[in-house]
Amino acid sequence: MGPSGGRAATITGLGIELPDRVVSNDELSKSLDTSDEWIGQRTGIRTRRIADPGVCASDLGIVAARRALEAASLAPSSVDLLITASISPDQIFPATASRVAYEIGAVNAGACDLSAGCTGFVYALALATGMVSSGIHQHVVVVGAEVISSVLDWEDRSTAVLFGDGAGAAVVSPANGGGRILGFDLGNDGVGGDMLSLPAGGSRMPASEETLRARAHYLKMSGSQVYRFATRVVVDSARRVLEKCGRNIDEVRLFVPHQANLRIIDAATRRLGIGDDRVYTNLQRYGNTSCASIPLCLHDAKAEGRLQEGDLVLLMGFGAGLTWGACLMEWGEA
Ligand SMILES: CC(C)(COP(=O)(O)OP(=O)(O)OC[C@H]1O[C@@H](n2cnc3c(N)ncnc32)[C@H](O)[C@@H]1OP(=O)(O)O)[C@@H](O)C(=O)NCCC(=O)NCCS
Repeated sequence: MGPSGGRAATITGLGIELPDRVVSNDELSKSLDTSDEWIGQRTGIRTRRIADPGVCASDLGIVAARRALEAASLAPSSVDLLITASISPDQIFPATASRVAYEIGAVNAGACDLSAGCTGFVYALALATGMVSSGIHQHVVVVGAEVISSVLDWEDRSTAVLFGDGAGAAVVSPANGGGRILGFDLGNDGVGGDMLSLPAGGSRMPASEETLRARAHYLKMSGSQVYRFATRVVVDSARRVLEKCGRNIDEVRLFVPHQANLRIIDAATRRLGIGDDRVYTNLQRYGNTSCASIPLCLHDAKAEGRLQEGDLVLLMGFGAGLTWGACLMEWGEA
């Protein structure tokens, strides 16, 4: 049975895409007043991928979605819905998902974007699971796609060093016995809306010469406030989803947190009592890829043999909004 008492859903295929260009901390130190030592110690990040100029979120999302469908052995025409989550979408509208669905040949699919900060992938996975569990849809593709480098202020060392580009996609379909998504805990606290945002370019602060001068079309963040929020919600939300599903932390085989900062992950996992051997991280090589971070982790963990059928897996996202979202699943691609 699925989380809502309907049929069970599971992830039947994963796909990723990363830009070729690897940018090290030392390379960033040439144009910013920073160092490999500072970035490494404060965040754990060593390198990130940066897309070439002209590459947009959908370009990466298209490749990731195609690969996820191949992995799931599913024809694009069988997809009922495609959801793209991103903090760096192609445009405000139309939806990035519309182009992704069109380019992969998902001719029978609806397509829409979802905005929930870096929690976008977990939120989209929750909606996909609901659609499949309820029987409204058979196959939903969830894409997290980011070219965050296009909205970073490359003169602001406090944000520019943290993020990276990439995309990850997952196909969500009815479970056939192998694995199943067990439940979610989703949350939002709008009081922290200004702690992490891209202030201008929407209806609240339309584009003008003044917003350009104020560099208000770039990502802004109060790092220390977001840090405090993140360490708290990761622990609380993880505990809530485990309780909702009647499971306990000792049963979790792999914890996959959003890859924002190794110190956030270390502090949270210490409080939760999960050993490093059960925590997956790849932010060291990719930085914070926002909505792409969790599917990138799942893909890499699987490639490294760290995801086996039946494993209890806990996903945990957090980000702008402020939002957070946890998902508990028994891994299995059938
Ligand atoms: C951003 C973050 C790494 C900063 O680490 P921190 O230990 O909190 O550092 P602070 O913000 O207190 O800054 C400490 C000093 O480092 C400086 N600093 C900031 N960025 C720097 C950089 N890239 N290189 C060198 N020094 C830097 C600051 O200017 C500050 O200097 P000051 O003390 O002279 O004013 C950390 O706050 C963080 O990870 N926050 C959460 C971010 C996050 O997860 N965002 C995404 C959520 S989805």
